[in-house]
This record gives sequence, C-alpha cells and structure tokens, in this order.
Amino acid sequence: MSVHTDIRGNVHNEAWWRDAVIYQIYPRSFFDANGDGEGDITGIIKKLGYLRHLGVDAIWLSPFYPSPMADGGYDVADYCDVDCRFGTLSQFDELVHKAHAADIKVIVDIVPNHTSNVHPWFKEALAQGPESAAASRYVFRRGRGRDGQLPPTNWLSNFGGSAWEPCGDGWYYLHLFAKEQPDLNWDSREVRDEFLRILKFWCDRGVDGFRIDVSHGLAKDLSTPLRDRVDPTVMGPQAADGSDPIWDRDAVHAIYREWRELFNRYNPPKYAIGESWSPFTPRIFQYARQDELGAVFDFSLSKAYWDREEYRTSIGRTHDFAVEAGTSPTWVLGNHDVPRAASRLGLPIGASINTWVTSNGTIPRIDPDMAHRRARAAALIMLGLPGTAFVYQGEELGLPEDFDLTPDEIQDPNWERSGHRFKGRDGCRVPLPWNAQDPAFGFNTTGRSWLPQPEWFARYAESSEEHTEGSTWQLYRDALELRHRWVARADGDVSFEWVNDALRGGLPLAWRLPSGMTVLANFSHEEASEVSGDYPALQVLLSSDPHLEQGSQVSVVPPNTAVWCCER
Ligand code: GLC
Repeated sequence: MSVHTDIRGNVHNEAWWRDAVIYQIYPRSFFDANGDGEGDITGIIKKLGYLRHLGVDAIWLSPFYPSPMADGGYDVADYCDVDCRFGTLSQFDELVHKAHAADIKVIVDIVPNHTSNVHPWFKEALAQGPESAAASRYVFRRGRGRDGQLPPTNWLSNFGGSAWEPCGDGWYYLHLFAKEQPDLNWDSREVRDEFLRILKFWCDRGVDGFRIDVSHGLAKDLSTPLRDRVDPTVMGPQAADGSDPIWDRDAVHAIYREWRELFNRYNPPKYAIGESWSPFTPRIFQYARQDELGAVFDFSLSKAYWDREEYRTSIGRTHDFAVEAGTSPTWVLGNHDVPRAASRLGLPIGASINTWVTSNGTIPRIDPDMAHRRARAAALIMLGLPGTAFVYQGEELGLPEDFDLTPDEIQDPNWERSGHRFKGRDGCRVPLPWNAQDPAFGFNTTGRSWLPQPEWFARYAESSEEHTEGSTWQLYRDALELRHRWVARADGDVSFEWVNDALRGGLPLAWRLPSGMTVLANFSHEEASEVSGDYPALQVLLSSDPHLEQGSQVSVVPPNTAVWCCER
C-alpha cells in the first residue's frame, strides 16, 4: 500500500478508502441550521463533532448544487456552486477545512448523465433549436410516424413513461429520468471537457473524491437510426454483454480513463466510486479498474431479502469480483433511493419491495420489531466485512421507512411519472430526528420540515439513543471503533474465510478475518443456533442482540442476530 508525504510533511495513505466507513449525507434532511425547513452546509459543519464521535472516516454529500429540485438536486443547474438553500461556496470550503481538521474526508456527488432543464446549456439548446450546435450537447431527435407524432425509440424513463419529451415540430429530447433532467450527449468533446473542468474545480477546492451518479448510463449508442431496446421495461442493461443501446456500454470506460488521469494528478489521488445500478453482473466491476474510477457500488445487500443463502452468495461474489478488479468490495444496506433497511429487512422473502410504495397496493405486513432486530444484525454483517462500508444517514439510529406520506406531501418525481402507482423514495428522505423534545425533533429550532416527520420519529431521536445502553446508535459507534482493530487492515488486504463447515447445529453464516475475529450471523427464526463441534470457544466482542454481553462465551446465537467474536 503506498503512502505519500506531501510538501508539508503530511503523510497520506493513498488507499484510505479501501477499508473506510463512508457516511452518506442527504443535505436537505440532515441538519437545518437556519431553520428554513431544509438542511444546509452549516448544519453539516455543526454536526462534524457528532460524526467524529460516531467514528466515520468520510462523508459523501448528495448534490447541494443550484437546482430547481425536480429530482431532489439530481437535476443540476450549475455544477460549480452551492444552492442558496444549502449555503455558499465559502461555507462549503469551511466544511471541507473543518472536516479535514476532524480527520473526515469529503466526497461529493457528480451528476454527469443529465443536467437540469434550467441549466444554461439546455436553455440555449431550446432557444437555438434542435439542429443547432448548442443542442448537440444533448440528445435531440425527430419523432417517428407522420409528423413525428411518435417518440424516436421505445426507451422508457426510469421514473415512468417515455424517455422522450416532445419539444415542438416533431422533435423530442431524451431524458432517462424526469423530463426536467435532459440527458447529455457524451459523444460531444465539449461535454467531456466541461466535466473535466468541473471535476478539477472540486478537486482544487480540496474534496477527497466523487460519487458518480448513473455512471453506467453516459455512453449511449446514438448511431442512426437509433435502436429500440429489446425489452424497454428493464431498467439497466438487459444483457450482460454491452449490447444495450443505453446502459453499461463499453464506450463509457474511455470517459473514466480520462477522469482517472485527472484524479491521479493529485496527492493522494482522488477517490471515485461509480453508481452503476444493474442486476448483478461481473461487468460492473470494470468501472472499478484502477485506471478508471477505482471503485464501484455493488447494491446486492441493499436489495437482498433476509436470507442466509442470498447473503452468502452476494457477499462471496461481491468480494471475489472486487478483488479480481484490484479494488475493495463495497457494502451498502441503504441509501436515499431505497426503502430503509430497518423496515425492508422485515419483508417476507419474495415480497415485492415496490408494492409497499404503491398508493393503492397493500403494504406487505412487516413486523417492526423483527425488522429492527434484523437491521441491527445486518449492520454487524456489513461492518464485519473487509472493504468500504456505506452508512446512510439515520441507519445508525435504526430509523425505519416512513410509509405514511400522503399524495400532497410526496415530492419524488416517481409519483407523477408513474401515474400515481409508486409513491417513490421520500419515505427514506424525511429529515432526521435529533432530539425528541425539540421542534422538528431537533432538525432545527423552528419546527419547519420540507417533508413532515411522523410522531414516532421521537423514539429514534439521536440524543436519546446516544445515551441509551444497547441502542442502535451505540451498536454502530462500538462497531466502528472495533472495526479499526478487527476488520480494517492498513495493508488493504480484504481477505476472509467462510467457516460454516466448522459449525454444527442451526448453522449461522460465519466467516473469520485474518485478525482472528469471527462473525456469526443467524438468519433463522429458530430459538438458537448452536455453535459447537471442533470450533474453538468464542467470546463476544459485540452482539446485535444486547442481551449477549461482551466477554461472555458464545454457545448460542439468538434468532436474527449477528455476533462479532474472538477466540478465548
Ligand atoms: C441516481 C440517484 C437518484 C437520482 C437518479 C437520477 O440513481 O441516486 O437519486 O434520482 O440517479 O439522477
């Protein structure tokens, strides 16, 4: 593992991210310092002490750029500024400075697949017409049929409906998400150069890395005539061979090789992780090659049911493919796009995760206590794996999904575009509860909140959790601390071995790390899962079931529980 010393004599570990815990902040919902009902940069600065105490290595900020918020800020109007609702560029600089002083790295979200429809480039394109040079930065095409009354292809928006928006005279523009998010044309050298400039702008401001939004969507096959997709309803590549006209095409990798050249000009090189949503395919790990982004999300765990075999398969393949690509595996239980783990994990195996967000469908019955137990166990599974772990704000509180938002409260564009079939993702984006007694549960002092918080948020307020023995917050804090000694390895080694065969009885899923720590995870409802046989006596380092005390000998693993242990 290489270590650099800069001109001031500071030592930098180039690969700090390989075993880091990265905390995702959704700025609008984190902490609101000015009381306008939306979180802000000053709010994040005020909570740096909290994050340090929790023990995270880095924060990743979802977009804070000027935006009309048609898609929660993933519709960017200016890539080199801060939206005034969140603060100013100088407050951002202060955040980076203070985060670094607290030994916390800062990662920002870059949205290169599309801009906002109020971005100056798009306004210019509309003003100058679909055949103008300005329009060639986007994807404008003539419709099919007489007078172009049909869209150019069968491509669908990820949020529902056609991906083509008519813009007059039989012309359309492409938007794979909301119509307020026109797709950029990455065949254009001007677009490529502009993003290199944008990335450099943030690199020079001192950010430590980037999360690349929709990283698998940039390079479309725009050759004439455009091709229909075989099955337009498949969101993500429909075949794992690069043949899809939109998703995960080989040509996308040339873009990231250029970006890596820029990132490597810094010391230490900038971190980058791609968001390549797709059903699992080994191709995803190509984004993580060391001459490209270097890291990529694998979302298998955030989609997995609470099922021993599914966890074992997902963990094994994520680990093995990551190692093969020369990167670290990434572990994710949740983010701002998926139902919160503390509810989702209570779903029966096979129940559709989408059902619960429909307005008319019935929400599958979730036992909240069981979901909560499993989310705690899943935390120790994820944090007990070598690699880069992502914690989404509120996960450390065991915060469940809010199902109760009413149609007039919903802001996610999924709702309108799906013809009111899907409520969308707002249920995991509700502003955090910090203090049960305060207005807006301490999110601010005015009681305003851009999404309403349910009454039951009081139970999860950070200030009470922090001081309650056995709370989920304490579990995370303890796990993050113990992780340094038992899971993370300064040399970047991410090896572990499955040890199931050494165990008898109810067979928890089990693996051993080179440090000597063993993780036991019981996915079953059985009273207990026996640890016996030739396996050496184990003592508890940390358990997701607070009744299993630290230092006690492990003879049984309770149902829906994970335990970190070491040999006595
Ligand atoms: C990513 C973001 C999601 C956004 C979409 C379009 O998937 O995580 O929130 O809606 O890209 O930018």
